[in-house]
Amino acid sequence: MALTSATQRLVAQFEYTDENVNIGVKEFLRQIDEGLHKSGTSMSQIPTYVTAVPNGTEKGLYLAVDLGGTNLRVCSVRLNGDNTFSLTYNKSPIPKLLMVAKSSQELFKFIAEHIAVFIKEHHYDHYEHHIRRRETMSSPEGFRDEHIFRLGFTFSFPVQQVGINKGFLIRWTKGFDIPDAIGKDVCALLQEEIDRLHLPVKVAALVNDTVGTLMARSYTSPGKTGALLGAIFGTGTNGAYIEKLSNIKKDMEGEYDTSTGEMVINTEWGSFDNQLNVLPTTTYDIKLDQESVNPGIQMFEKRVSGMFLGEILRIVLVSLLQDESIPLFHDDNSSHNDWKSTTSIAAQSGMFKKWGLDSAIMSVAALDNTPDLGTLRLELDSQLDVYSPSLEDAHAFKAIAAAIARRAARLSAVAVGAIVLQSGKLTDPAFAGEPIDVGVDGSLVEHYPHFRTMMYEALKAIDGIGEAGAERIRIGIAKDGSGVGAALIALVAASMEKKRPTTIEWLAQMRSEASLKTLKEVDSAVEQEAEETAA
Ligand code: BGC
Repeated sequence: MALTSATQRLVAQFEYTDENVNIGVKEFLRQIDEGLHKSGTSMSQIPTYVTAVPNGTEKGLYLAVDLGGTNLRVCSVRLNGDNTFSLTYNKSPIPKLLMVAKSSQELFKFIAEHIAVFIKEHHYDHYEHHIRRRETMSSPEGFRDEHIFRLGFTFSFPVQQVGINKGFLIRWTKGFDIPDAIGKDVCALLQEEIDRLHLPVKVAALVNDTVGTLMARSYTSPGKTGALLGAIFGTGTNGAYIEKLSNIKKDMEGEYDTSTGEMVINTEWGSFDNQLNVLPTTTYDIKLDQESVNPGIQMFEKRVSGMFLGEILRIVLVSLLQDESIPLFHDDNSSHNDWKSTTSIAAQSGMFKKWGLDSAIMSVAALDNTPDLGTLRLELDSQLDVYSPSLEDAHAFKAIAAAIARRAARLSAVAVGAIVLQSGKLTDPAFAGEPIDVGVDGSLVEHYPHFRTMMYEALKAIDGIGEAGAERIRIGIAKDGSGVGAALIALVAASMEKKRPTTIEWLAQMRSEASLKTLKEVDSAVEQEAEETAA
């Protein structure tokens, strides 16, 4: 009984009502607008200089690197020009040590090394061709060749972008903490390490994963208009959407094309309401934040994304375990337990370690609807060293996990709903009856059961959206969005490299890329050209 009532009390604390949803949306709209007017706001509203979305006819072979919160993916993407693409990729977990290393060079070196392995494994022809060319030093025409891969770099952290392949890191998120990278151009940091390995790769475009997702969704889902929003609900959360240029009131440093009258804005909504004007806040949220590497920042993300949900649940469960009047994962004798053995939790259980409860088990809990919750109970045993959990334990775990996930899904709907309202598409006669397309990606939305259904329930409750509006919002998975989107932006970047370098420029560029051995040849070529020009 004590466990049941404690569970009910906790579940109630995570309730996020329709009224809360509406209050959240109003504040979200206010903070969207604030971020469009000035810099330094909690939601950064970063202009990306991307002013159009693809229409599916784009073609070519591009390389993409996706540095997410958990994994590094190196991919090559072949865009077929008919709304389809094929993708080859290698995926490796990012070593925890590199996420908090002293210097970011180790992280960028790790990325460059993985690019090298990928190219040698999947595109040996490019690699070999490049090596041959470096050895023979052929003509400018030859150097300017297609064998240099254009790489789209998906860097899923807040970056002040000043050009298509230039952007300065604003802050780390998702547990990364490498202070020396703050304020640096992350493309240059990567290019340096690529050059150190003499790879035939140019970092051509810098892309946030949400922007990539928006691009990929527009490429693959043909419609009268492209997608409105690309969003990630994975280790972290964020969204990028199409905004009218006339609504962007703050200064933009970089150059951009004004012909579409629109620009993609990276909202960085993970930091929506850092000031906690409206975000729901339990004592468990407070504890999680205080113990994080970035207290007071990414407050929305800390209630929504996969990295944090497991940790909130762990903190809640530890509070129950500390209360001796509540029999969680504990019974005095086997007669209390339908499995006829005494329940206990091992001292070394992940439950007692920060980040020790992987959010994935929450999906297992939600999926297990068997009368004895057998799958979940086995998982509690194997993942969390809970020996012989009782049915009551499993029920408590399932209910609390569901409440935390449901709050996350409804908060996600606040973000999506606010962007839909901001676009004005629901009431614009030009879009009457048209679907409003939202591309989503990330482990949470992909694997947590009914995450989208819970989002839709909340969307229906939003004033100005309602049932009819929610029906027009088409939330679809944009699988591999960030890789494909990065390739698409690398394509745009490649087409912007219109200006062909003069021979002198070519040689200067070659010099900066050449090894010591070839430098001599560069020098003599420069001398020769100077002599020829003088003659
Ligand atoms: C980052 C965003 C990113 C999101 C999803 C957040 O922590 O700040 O830039 O888009 O995670 O990966």
